Amino acid sequence: MIDGKKVLFSGMQSTGNLTLGNYLGALKNWVALADEYECFYCVVDEHSITVRQDPAVLRKRARALLILYIAAGIDPDKACLYYQSHVSAHAELAWILNCFTYMGEMNRMTQFKDKSAKHADNINVGLFAYPVLMAADILLYQADLVPVGSDQLQHLEICRDIAQRFNNIYGDVFTIPEAYIGKAGARIMSLQNPEKKMSKSDENPNASIYLMDDRDTIIRKFRRAVTDSEGQIAYRDEQPGIRNLLDIYCACTGKTPDDAVAEFSGRGYGDLKSAVGEIVADTLDPLQKRCAELTKDKGYIDSVIKNNAEKASFYATKTLRKVQHKIGFPDRIR
Ligand code: TYM
Repeated sequence: MIDGKKVLFSGMQSTGNLTLGNYLGALKNWVALADEYECFYCVVDEHSITVRQDPAVLRKRARALLILYIAAGIDPDKACLYYQSHVSAHAELAWILNCFTYMGEMNRMTQFKDKSAKHADNINVGLFAYPVLMAADILLYQADLVPVGSDQLQHLEICRDIAQRFNNIYGDVFTIPEAYIGKAGARIMSLQNPEKKMSKSDENPNASIYLMDDRDTIIRKFRRAVTDSEGQIAYRDEQPGIRNLLDIYCACTGKTPDDAVAEFSGRGYGDLKSAVGEIVADTLDPLQKRCAELTKDKGYIDSVIKNNAEKASFYATKTLRKVQHKIGFPDRIR
């Protein structure tokens, strides 16, 4: 609890071009929850270097991501928006938690398996221990709630296990966090292969809607979306392409799948694709405009970065000192 409010933590990697999946699965829910909770929204640049990055591009993307958080509607005077690398407690707690995590647990992580297959020439220890850093992110702020897309649930589970294990040894040090998965949009699929999640690292640009795509590109990508030959608009597992389009439509409009199916009943796939393209373009347009405006306001963004890093450090260090004391590190002389 901070000032009587429950705490929420979440983060995104400043890697690649963010997709509609990142927005509908995570960012949109962050905005919706921001008033109710004391929120920490992190740009997890330390996670990004588990895959080799161009330094200039990484720096630029980290700033663009922080700007996107604000553009999406998060007020940086209320929620804490900051870079992971500006708060050294993340790396320090991650080291400690590494010593409370088993190799076998990390070996089971599907993201590790996927990413090590993709980057076979760079299977580094950081990639292996990635979920431990993520656990440190969350536990440092004693978070109650962690809004994520469903691909992150396995990481959330391991975070809870590590926290529980630590608490069993040292007493109630960490709050055990709960995952928050939104009603719609928790798993947006590729437009070219609806059995696969939409991902910023997909090689086929038609598979993903990028948040900075213009209207024509968005509409064209939806027009080309892979569907099926059933010819009927229904929300069911056997029609993953159509179901994905309906999921996107519902996440943007707030409608239920039943309402959406009723709305398109008797109409063709072309109509559905156009309607989804239009609603996504309408959703992203104000976001893109606001990003462009905020990018020009260098002084304001710099002040957000500085003030919020201090705020995050304050809370993170409090937990870190408690942990260090519990495990037997010598207290600091004041
Ligand atoms: P990342 O950067 O891959 O994704 C950021 C958020 O977007 C969600 N997401 C999706 N949701 C629905 N459909 C999709 N196709 C889709 N693709 C991505 C993700 O679930 C995520 O919520 N490890 C995390 C970042 C992280 C983190 C944390 C998250 C680091 N520390 C602590 C929460 C708490 C990641 O790589 O997310």
